[in-house]
Amino acid sequence: MTILKHLFSPIQIGCMTAKNRLLMSAMSINFGVDENGYVTDQLTGYLAARAKGGAGMILVGGGGVHPTGLELPGLPALWDDACIPALKKMVDAVKPFDTRFGVQLMHGGRQSYHDRKVAPSPIPAPAVVKGVPKELAVEEIAELVSSFGDAARRCRDAGFDFIEVHGAHGYLINQFLALNSNHRDDQYGGSFDNRIRFFLELLADIKAKAGADFPVGLRINGEDYIEGGWTLDDALRLAPILEKNGADYLHVSAGVYGSKQLTIPSMYVEHGCFVHLAEAVKQVVHIPVVGVGRIKSPELADRILKEGRADIVAMGRALIADPMLPEKARAGNLNAIRPCIGCCLGCIHAVLALEPGSCVVNPDVGREYLMDGDEKTSQPKSVLVVGAGPAGLAAARMAAMRGHRVTVAEEKGSVGGLLRLAAIPPGRGEIMDVIDFLTREIERLGVALRLNTRLDEALLDQVKPEAVILASGSLPDMPIIKGLFTTGMDLCTVTEVLEGKITGDRVIIIGGGQAGLVTADFLAEKGREVAVLNRKRHFADEMSSNDRFYLRERLKRDTVHLFKQAAVKTFTDDGVVFTSAGNSVTLEGYDTVVVAEAMAPVRDAKPMLDRRNIDVYVIGDAKTPRNLMLAQSEAEEIGRTI
Ligand SMILES: Cc1cc2nc3c(=O)[nH]c(=O)nc-3n(C[C@H](O)[C@H](O)[C@H](O)COP(=O)(O)O)c2cc1C
Ligand code: SF4
Repeated sequence: MTILKHLFSPIQIGCMTAKNRLLMSAMSINFGVDENGYVTDQLTGYLAARAKGGAGMILVGGGGVHPTGLELPGLPALWDDACIPALKKMVDAVKPFDTRFGVQLMHGGRQSYHDRKVAPSPIPAPAVVKGVPKELAVEEIAELVSSFGDAARRCRDAGFDFIEVHGAHGYLINQFLALNSNHRDDQYGGSFDNRIRFFLELLADIKAKAGADFPVGLRINGEDYIEGGWTLDDALRLAPILEKNGADYLHVSAGVYGSKQLTIPSMYVEHGCFVHLAEAVKQVVHIPVVGVGRIKSPELADRILKEGRADIVAMGRALIADPMLPEKARAGNLNAIRPCIGCCLGCIHAVLALEPGSCVVNPDVGREYLMDGDEKTSQPKSVLVVGAGPAGLAAARMAAMRGHRVTVAEEKGSVGGLLRLAAIPPGRGEIMDVIDFLTREIERLGVALRLNTRLDEALLDQVKPEAVILASGSLPDMPIIKGLFTTGMDLCTVTEVLEGKITGDRVIIIGGGQAGLVTADFLAEKGREVAVLNRKRHFADEMSSNDRFYLRERLKRDTVHLFKQAAVKTFTDDGVVFTSAGNSVTLEGYDTVVVAEAMAPVRDAKPMLDRRNIDVYVIGDAKTPRNLMLAQSEAEEIGRTI
């Protein structure tokens, strides 16, 4: 058993002690508030599940201190005493799990979603949200200072153990700090001392109103990673000042909207990506310092603490994906952790699209309050799952958890289906974590996995299923395009390429979705020259914008040519004639065409099953080719229904 003694040792923060050093970082999840912004059972259920999971400290994300600063529509409003009773109810539900429960206080400034945005200067955010913010007058700054103190006092009255102030990620406080967003020439702009004034004033207001003994953490950026932004040198100068002014911990993060390194990086970025910033800050203060950034493995968290790089480790998405991560880690059950794959699709991508946050690998997010646990079935059945892709495995897991006798039959010699291939291109390997997790789970649950097994009458006679879940996936569809079947170029599908088929040196890829782009990256990395023809205006719009951002950066090389709004006239013997955004283009001297466009469902076994009068549930790509998130939630739903 792995002993994570550093992670699971207590920590003192001001006058508060947390049982371990794992902080669930603040995440604006964009659900669980009513029309007034008061928290509801939905948010409580989500947070209580994480408290039950054993995190030492948990933060409610995105608490708005003032109506002008609400970052997203579905976040808690803290600007009125009327918010207190609902907060109290939430605290009462979460506290019994022995977590230290806090709220992050934030003002979005120019990065708020609505059109009443305010900021130190009337400069629009560099990305994500549009609109010129109104420049704050000095009296309005005083009102905002006061709103932080009032909100902190409300949190204390509601029974929270601590608060964290959001001074990072390009929101209002960060906008005052950074030169590129603060062009003021009064006492709040210009010199370093002037730019930090707002932060220090609100900290003093919080201390005065919530009490000197109420722990206050501050989240700051160690780097904005944008031109003219806040830097590590600035952070190292500010940190001791914040300590002197009463900060009880510092949480060091990075990035703003539009930065070169994103605050919420995708699978392309290394684990522990911002810990070096916390490590640097730790050298200049004596209060606890929190490190963050793609930390999903408890072992890495423990190592960061052991090496003295941080005093507390924050995890965000890893705890969305598996609320029970801390408890599983403490019990040495690391293999049972459901891994975040860093796709950013269900969580931050949804939230920034003003949708409720969710998770690709964990369909229960946001539904915790509706669930009474996975009840065992009173009528265990023999269930046959056809196909060991992500949908089949997830359905098999859930059905087995409920007590059914489950067999999985997979035609191929390995599990994972198309997701195994999706994990092959550069930077995509983490996708396999979900397949590995599901495979371990079905083994633990005693599911019979039969590889190299086709569904036929003999198998049905043997297994005698009372229900069949058809999760046989999809295959690439060949488009009918003039010249495609008569060209002298080698013609293959994206799956063949990722399975190892050797292409020529110059490759045309039809399809600019995720499959086309990651395959372009894969081939470019192998030294091929690649042209990608995308019918649509946008490339890979099914990916999260955070994930696509890094992929697009990787594709910025001389050997990759991207064409959007491509309409093919004809393929020739060694190339293609087409229009791209209305311009005529002819490519010559190519030797391979890779088709990476539509997928077609595979469900030829259905008639055989219908003839036998067995209950059949078609799920995943076999129903309609879609993304992993829908496949996972559908699979779990079916597993729960049978
Ligand atoms: C859906 C979502 C919402 C977030 N909202 C906030 C927020 O309100 N305040 C904040 O400081 N950070 C926010 N973050 C950033 C996280 O706290 C964390 O810094 C980031 O996700 C990197 O950590 P991770 O790799 O462990 O997820 C958010 C992240 C996600 C995924
Ligand atoms: S949606 Fe993706 S990145 Fe977000 S928590 Fe789930 S697995 Fe992680």
